[in-house]
Order: sequence, then structure tokens, then C-alpha cells
Amino acid sequence: MNILILGSGGREHALAWAVMQNPKCDRLIVAPGNAGIAEIAECASFDINDRGQVVTFAEENAIDFVIIGPEAPLTSGVADRLRESAILTFGPSAAAAMLEGSKAFTKEICDAANAPTAAYGHFTQAGPAKEYIRQQGAPIVVKADGLAAGKGVIVAMDEETALAAIDDMFGGAFGDAGAQVVIEEFMEGEEASFFVLCDGQNILPIGTAQDHKRAFDGDTGPNTGGMGAYSPAPVMSDAVVKIALEQIIQPTVDEMARRGTPYQGVLYAGFMIKDAQPRLVEYNVRFGDPECQVLMMRLGAQVLDLMLACARGQLDQATVNWGDDHAITIVMAANGYPGAYEKGSVINGLDGIPEDSWSKVFHAGTALIDGKTCATGGRVMNITARGETLSQARERAYKMVEAIDWPGGFNRTDIGWRAL
Ligand code: AMP
Ligand code: GLY
Repeated sequence: MNILILGSGGREHALAWAVMQNPKCDRLIVAPGNAGIAEIAECASFDINDRGQVVTFAEENAIDFVIIGPEAPLTSGVADRLRESAILTFGPSAAAAMLEGSKAFTKEICDAANAPTAAYGHFTQAGPAKEYIRQQGAPIVVKADGLAAGKGVIVAMDEETALAAIDDMFGGAFGDAGAQVVIEEFMEGEEASFFVLCDGQNILPIGTAQDHKRAFDGDTGPNTGGMGAYSPAPVMSDAVVKIALEQIIQPTVDEMARRGTPYQGVLYAGFMIKDAQPRLVEYNVRFGDPECQVLMMRLGAQVLDLMLACARGQLDQATVNWGDDHAITIVMAANGYPGAYEKGSVINGLDGIPEDSWSKVFHAGTALIDGKTCATGGRVMNITARGETLSQARERAYKMVEAIDWPGGFNRTDIGWRAL
């Protein structure tokens, strides 16, 4: 079949790498793609958030299956338009993508589904929001309602910070995303991510992971999109997974179906876990980046069959063929990230790295310029490895990092510390 993947990050490189290994994939196009993706698939250029452009491209290229990577095309309704044109698509409708698009919506669903999550208030005006903060006291968490590129959450350890966040949000610091705010109880515990495929009705877990959000070692420095991840996450024991499915995921999926907006695609749940009880922090309606890289490393080619079963509403007939393995990915980012960073620095040493089912470099922000691999983004490469144990995978990954000669970039040296 002819397959189109939308997106350009390390997540989409990993998806492309897994999908193209499946014999069902005859032709793979990624839009817009990146330099790493261009080595294994065709890259195409059009506006992936424009529903019309996506459908036209898919029809002109006889695409049989579209996999949508990032959240923006999902909240724009690209999946809806593709399905209207009878093109098989992996990814939720715009209505179901509200689970990521609006934090207030997610809280409302949790209420209806009776799913454990932080207590909250939802506000459209600064005055009552501030009153709520003064009543509740700190620590407290202030969230812009809409998509804010991961920057719309302020975990305030004191009241002043929380009140200032309200002024920022209603002052327009996050644009429309901040026109409404959700204020949440601060939850203590250990964070982990849980990924399930969902065909509107049936649920299939496809892995757990832990991310490292801070830029520097020891979980210090500014928040980022994620500096490294590993799978599985030890804190997501079988018992915790069972509770998560029964108390949070299944009730959410049932509630979405009951409302006439069934959820189809990958559902990424962020949990806070304390005393083996998970509580929902947030939903995302896509794979995590870099969590996807470790999931794909573990799942490999079967992921295409699973995504097809998901899109066709046949997940009840699908099973995951698990290896008893662990995967880790180390993000290499341009110096300065997540602030202003330099673009165009040359990356050497990639040719000498062995790439097989145990080790793989996924590209995020790279471009081929005059035959040289250059950094063009903030997060630039994901050095990914698999092993029989996490320490084996980790050792393998850091050996690859050492072989890369890139003075323009940096990486954390402690990915996986919590699990080891
Ligand atoms: P989110 O964008 O909702 O994932 O929030 C970003 C990060 O803020 C999460 O990964 C948590 O580390 C933290 N966070 C969000 N909500 C809470 C909460 N209610 N209690 C404690 N930490 C939170
Ligand atoms: N790595 C976090 C995310 O993709 O949202």
C-alpha cells in the first residue's frame, strides 16, 4: 500500500522507520519530513495543516493510508476531511482531539467518567481565578486552556507566581490559548506516560515510557519538549496499568463514544503516580516526542498492522508481539535550546555509527546542506538503542553519542537515572 505520514520530527522519523519495514508498505511519503527521513522515504512539501492540501495530495498520489504525527493537523480537522474522502486515516477527529486541544474539556470528560485527576477550577476571568488561588493556596498549577506548544503550564510553588501567571495568561501571553485557564491542585508523585491505541471502542496498550523534561542533568534547567526517554517505565507496574485502564482510559473512551465523538488513534496519557494509584495529568492525541522513538524501537514493523487495525475499527482482533526488551533515546539539542539556538552547525561522525534493530539515530531538526548533515532545529537528533536491560540499552546509546562529533550541540548524560 501507499502510505503518507504527516510531520517532520524525530517522532515521524521513528514512525517512518518502523512502517517501512513492514512488507505491506510499498511506497512511503513523509510530508514535510527531514534529512534522516529522506534517506528512507520520499519527502513532499505542502501545508500539512491545510485540510484541502492534504486530501488533494493524498488523492493525486493514490495514498491508501495516512498517519498523522503532530497535534496541529488533528485539531485542524485533517483526519475528518480525509475520512470524508474515504481515505483510511490514523488519528482522531477534531472533536476527539479536544482531549489535547482544551484542558477544560479534558477535565469535564474526567468528571463525567469519574476518572481520578487533580481537583480544579475553570475560569474565563482573572478576578475569580485569583480568588480561587488565594483560597486554595500554593503549591498550585495554572494552565492555559488551549494548545500552547508545551509552555502553557505554570507549576507555582508560591501564590505570587500563580497570581502572576493569571495576569500573563489573561494579558495575552499565550494568545487565544490563554483566554481560559484551568487551575489545578498540585499532585505529588512520579510521572509516567501510557500509550494506547483506540479504535473508538476497543483499547490496545502499546507501551509505557518516561520522559525527561528539563534541559540539564539532575532535572535542572528550563522545561523542554523532552530531552530523552525510555520504555518501559518501571513505575507503570501491571497493577498500575490495570487501574489506569479500568479507572481512567476505558471510562474516557466510553464517554467520548457516548458523546458521539469516538476516539480513534493513539491516546497518550500522562499520569502522576503515588502509592500505586495513577491520576491523570493530561491527555495528548498523538505519540510523544521523544517517547515515540523508544516505542517504535520496541514495536518495529508490527506497528503498521496495529495502526491499520486501529483505523479499521478492528483492534479487538489485534495483539502486540512483545519482546522482553528495553529502549532508550538520548536527545541531542543545539546549544542554547530551549532558548535561542544556533542553526547550521555541521554534525560529523554519523557515518561511523552502526544502525540495526539495536541502535538507530532518528533525525529531528536536520537538513542536508552541501552534502553535510547540519542542525536546523532545537532538538536535532535522537540517539536510540534497545537492549535486554535498560542499562545495556543505555550503554549502547551513550557509546553512539560519544561517536558523534558535534560541538554545536549538547545532551543530558543521565537519561534513565530514575529507573536504574
Ligand atoms: P502538561 O502540559 O499538562 O503535561 O503539564 C506539564 C507538566 O507540568 C507535567 O508534565 C507535570 O510535570 C506538571 N504538572 C501539570 N499538572 C500538574 C499537577 N496538577 N500537579 C503537579 N504537576 C503538574
Ligand atoms: N515529550 C512530551 C510530548 O511529546 O508531549
